[in-house]
Amino acid sequence: MNEKHLFIETFGCQMNVNDSERIVTMLADLGYRPTTVPADADMILLNTCSVRGGAEEKVYKRLSHYRSLKKAHSGLILGVGGCVAQQEGDHLLQKFPFLDLVFGTHNLHLLPDMVRGAEKGERRCETAFIDNDQRLDLFPPVKGASRLSRFVTVMQGCDNFCSYCIVPYVRGREISRRAADILDEVRQLADEGVQEVVLLGQNVNSYGLKSANEPTFAQLIRQVAGVEGIRRIRFTTSHPKDMSDELIACFADVPKLCGQVHLPAQSGSDVVLSRMNRGYARAAYLDRIRALKAARPGIAITGDMIVGFPGESEADFEQTLTLMEEVRYADLFLFVYSARPGTKAAELPEELSREQKVERLERLLALQRRITLEINRSYLGTLQELLVEGEGKRPGQVSGKAESGRIVNFPGDPALIGSFVTVRIVAAYQNSLLGELARNP
Ligand code: SAH
Ligand code: SF4
Ligand code: F3S
Repeated sequence: MNEKHLFIETFGCQMNVNDSERIVTMLADLGYRPTTVPADADMILLNTCSVRGGAEEKVYKRLSHYRSLKKAHSGLILGVGGCVAQQEGDHLLQKFPFLDLVFGTHNLHLLPDMVRGAEKGERRCETAFIDNDQRLDLFPPVKGASRLSRFVTVMQGCDNFCSYCIVPYVRGREISRRAADILDEVRQLADEGVQEVVLLGQNVNSYGLKSANEPTFAQLIRQVAGVEGIRRIRFTTSHPKDMSDELIACFADVPKLCGQVHLPAQSGSDVVLSRMNRGYARAAYLDRIRALKAARPGIAITGDMIVGFPGESEADFEQTLTLMEEVRYADLFLFVYSARPGTKAAELPEELSREQKVERLERLLALQRRITLEINRSYLGTLQELLVEGEGKRPGQVSGKAESGRIVNFPGDPALIGSFVTVRIVAAYQNSLLGELARNP
């Protein structure tokens, strides 16, 4: 078999990162080896995100760039997958005559066949939804990516229909994977030397709620914690309305569950939350945060916030600022509202100018920068257990992740990569911490 090269560019969330890993695994069987140099590639795939207009625009820019490579290499196969592909479907083939393949979020398993066709010059688009539980069996697991920390998909899709969000339209209905399959995969990863698993889904904490035969997410975590060899468990993303007491209790008594939780609030204002169709009020959100902090003191809370939702008044916006002060997020992802085709919120009149939105975004950013730095400084002098994952920021350093998810660089031998070490935190910066080795594992 001739060696061919695949360049894959991934946009968007961890779902797409995980899907790209599967694509690399599948196409290896057709003789495609990953490359990091687009000009060397025989196939370029864009795994796309359409959560905001800007993300979608980026894809079109990249496509016209890759078109020029196709002029130099006529056999180059160009494909678009992921959420923009799901949203636009066949239009993409019509709009971009140099494009060969379009595959939706439920069609990864068709890709090998599509690629064989493309090698013979066939253009093809596949974006049919598969809204039954066979979907999760169609996607092959990731192989050979020898890493210490791996994603394990537990559910896919979303039924929440937050009024601003395109995800339910491009990812389809929520489907939970069988617990037995999840545990098989985790055991397999443990055998390969994986130390940390990140349980992945659009809304992991509603795992199993639709099927009587599966455990709840909290029960699933306890089962995963029972797998020997796995030392750390994380999960993402959670929805506040499904953050049950049972799940919060895991933070109190499952030591392998890391003290980090991503729990997006989206806004601090009840009026806005209700218009967003989020299904909880500010007080209920703060109640969940208090319970999490009580279950695991020092837990690192991260989140997402949208600024400039239609009709967001200055008073609404200030509610977001005070929520941030109360929660004290370790990290917060801040987004300017972007109207998405087909969503409910896209029908609402936009009352804020671009300048107003950007001004509010900057106030949020400034506040969050201050809080993040204060939290980082609170680690000064503490001992932290790290899973050493790679080279550090500076020569002579290696880098690891603390239980809280914080990145810590420290002077150390690359031979430490793959092991757990304890370091003392000696400096705190905006985006990372500096440590020094306290004792060997
Ligand atoms: N399933 C995840 C989030 C998926 S999208 C969850 O519910 O937590 C990631 C983030 O993008 C969202 O949390 C939200 O903050 C942001 N987002 C989604 N749609 C958006 C839009 N139309 N405009 C701006 N930000 C948006
Ligand atoms: Fe989008 Fe809401 Fe679903 Fe998250 S929960 S993916 S924000 S619809
Ligand atoms: Fe983007 Fe699709 Fe994820 S829209 S955020 S890549 S689910």
